[in-house]
Amino acid sequence: MNWVASQTADDKLLQQELCALGKMPEHIAIIMDGNGRWAEERSLTRTQGHREGINSVRDIVESASLLGVKHLTLYAFSMENWRRPRMEVTVLMDLLLHYLRSELDELHKNNVRLQAIGKINALPKNVQKQLFECMETMKNNAGLTLTLALSYSARWDIVRAVQMASLDVRRGKLSPEDITEERFATYLQTHATPDPDLLIRTSGEMRLSNFLLWELAYSELYVTDKNWPDFRRNDLYEAVANYLGRERRFGKTSQQIIDEKSDAPETNSLKRMLNALRS
Ligand code: IPE
Ligand code: IPE
Ligand code: MG
Repeated sequence: MNWVASQTADDKLLQQELCALGKMPEHIAIIMDGNGRWAEERSLTRTQGHREGINSVRDIVESASLLGVKHLTLYAFSMENWRRPRMEVTVLMDLLLHYLRSELDELHKNNVRLQAIGKINALPKNVQKQLFECMETMKNNAGLTLTLALSYSARWDIVRAVQMASLDVRRGKLSPEDITEERFATYLQTHATPDPDLLIRTSGEMRLSNFLLWELAYSELYVTDKNWPDFRRNDLYEAVANYLGRERRFGKTSQQIIDEKSDAPETNSLKRMLNALRS
């Protein structure tokens, strides 16, 4: 299915209204939480909650892509999630395998590029194989970059980065004085992706659960009470609209931000162009 061709007129209109509000976030990261509670509220099994969660993944990936978001990172399985009952872990791995198999064609046709972060070699071999096959097929796509965080832990990634930087110091390729924030970030698995502009967490939990601790330093946070299986495209639009209403100050004062906006390059080049036309 071609997402652009099959987009409803109502959805197109909503997206246009949203885009008119301001600059879309370049990178949205989501902690997809609450599958279990969604199921419990309906007297269903946790497996059914996870299965319904996949329908939310489909809808959010498609709508984010249509919206022109460049990067979407989904926290699908944390390193801590290995502590869950073995049966549930097996179900989650099976669902992941099934998702990758069944979505490959559609994602590829819609120009999505797939990436993964986390301790990928901890995943079952068949999942790893499928994942690498999908990433290989989609590696040259230029649309939405979808990053799945699998067996992921931000602290693990930071420690791993320290180890790699230390090795480079030992080999004489890096001197400790040259380790700046920018240089350090090149050792993280997320090095090729800009930091998230917006972090969404579903199911009302007010914590990061070891997700992108370094990268989220200045992201806007949005927590909704909806459980992940209930979170669909209109909820994403609500989160983005909320984000567009925020003032990102990065330590500065509100007045500075207002002054910089009126000094924005687009305004300046527009002014220059108008002046040139008038003279
Ligand atoms: C998120 O839903 C899915 C994963 C963590 C894999 P949960 O399974 O955490 O759902 P709750 O938090 O128990 O409701
Ligand atoms: C975070 O959800 C991990 C994922 C969404 C994959 P959890 O449900 O595992 O988080 P905690 O343990 O409640 O913080
Ligand atoms: Mg949870």
